[in-house]
Amino acid sequence: MDSILVRGNGALSGQIPIAGAKNACLTLMPATLLSDEPLTLTNAPRLSDIATMTQLLQSLGAEVAGLQQGLVLAMSSHDIANHTADYDIVRKMRASILVLGPMLAREGHAVVSLPGGCAIGARPVDLHQRAMEALGAEIELKDGYLHARAPGGRLKGATIHFPLVSVGATENALMAATLAKGTTVIENAAREPEIVDLARCLRAMGAQIEGEGTSTITIQGVDRLHGATHPVVADRIELGTYMLVPAICGGEVECLGGKMELVGAFAEKLEAAGVSVTQTERGLKVSGQGRVKAVDVVTEPFPGFPTDLQAQMMALLCTAEGTSVLEERIFENRFMHAPELTRMGANIEVHGGHATVHGVEKLKGARVMATDLRASVSLILAALAAEGETVVSRVYHLDRGYERVEEKLRACGAQIERIKG
Ligand code: EPZ
Repeated sequence: MDSILVRGNGALSGQIPIAGAKNACLTLMPATLLSDEPLTLTNAPRLSDIATMTQLLQSLGAEVAGLQQGLVLAMSSHDIANHTADYDIVRKMRASILVLGPMLAREGHAVVSLPGGCAIGARPVDLHQRAMEALGAEIELKDGYLHARAPGGRLKGATIHFPLVSVGATENALMAATLAKGTTVIENAAREPEIVDLARCLRAMGAQIEGEGTSTITIQGVDRLHGATHPVVADRIELGTYMLVPAICGGEVECLGGKMELVGAFAEKLEAAGVSVTQTERGLKVSGQGRVKAVDVVTEPFPGFPTDLQAQMMALLCTAEGTSVLEERIFENRFMHAPELTRMGANIEVHGGHATVHGVEKLKGARVMATDLRASVSLILAALAAEGETVVSRVYHLDRGYERVEEKLRACGAQIERIKG
């Protein structure tokens, strides 16, 4: 398992290109199952999660090619040869559940392994199941697999009301509804930019969708969808992560491709902490001037403060002037970075869904362990500003969601290297 060695090196400045969004790509790729014509995604990120989704789609019979540039995925599912999403792949990546809706809509049946939990929570898929059943599917759980079928071979449009906002369940419902017979209304839908991007891609494939980005999405089902070429939206979580580099270390970083509308609530918090954020023609320019002020954070569905930036924000607040309280409202166990930051000298008290961070002057380098994707990058951020050396182990978590992280940070003057092992 690789580790990453970081030496704190003062202020960091430069330009960082923001890649296509992992969480958009992970729902756009299963959309290829909705059509027998090719779907090409440009600006796709080179990440291990994308490789896992490629493996899953290929196991179902789709042809997926990451063309030379590594940034383009050409996929076509002329014939879906296999209708079972196997546990061995699904357990590696929960987003595999997103093949359920498309496969059910196109083929009338699907067998998908339950994903199981992960480090940050139980991650149930009951809302996905309820959405498919609202569209007329019959679903039975057998040996850890969801066996789903559409009576008569086709789903029927319906009103789907989600009792709580779910990004993945909204994505599964949206994809399934495009081929259902009749009209579907999704109420209390997730509003994330990745949902808007998916709707744009499905519309390019011939789907009839209105209201994406709001809490109510209306879909008129069509008989078939055709191929398309679609650019993956910029990754707002990678963007927010790199915006924190000058905030934590001082300096000025321009995040190329960054757009304010992708990170509104997060940028407001940074500005409240004393960090300046400016939209330029090329992206978002962020400059930090020494210690930030403590701020409180509550994670919420978009357009609120994203849960996927909570760990990274905590790394910033460890050396803020004053005390900050972070409330994690989306997942039940998403403070595993706190004890690792404490090893670096942070002063954090965790009680249930709340973490109270008493800012200290400076963190100190230490050996720490990555526990999940966003926790891993929060440790890297803390290490960039810490005194001395930090070694972050289990960085396979990092590689799931951050492309060429050492290269991008070295370009801003960071002393960071990967230790193979
Ligand atoms: C997506 O996960 C993202 N993953 C997550 O990013 C992100 O943290 C999350 O949305 C919230 O924004 C991808 O897009 C691949 P949810 P998802 O369904 O869809 C509960 C990262 O770091 N829930 O919006 O699984 C659930 O337990 C990852 O990139 C149910 O109860 O999240 C959670 O408490 C981590 N039943 C809440 O809803 C369900 O059927 C929100 O989950 C589904 C979800």
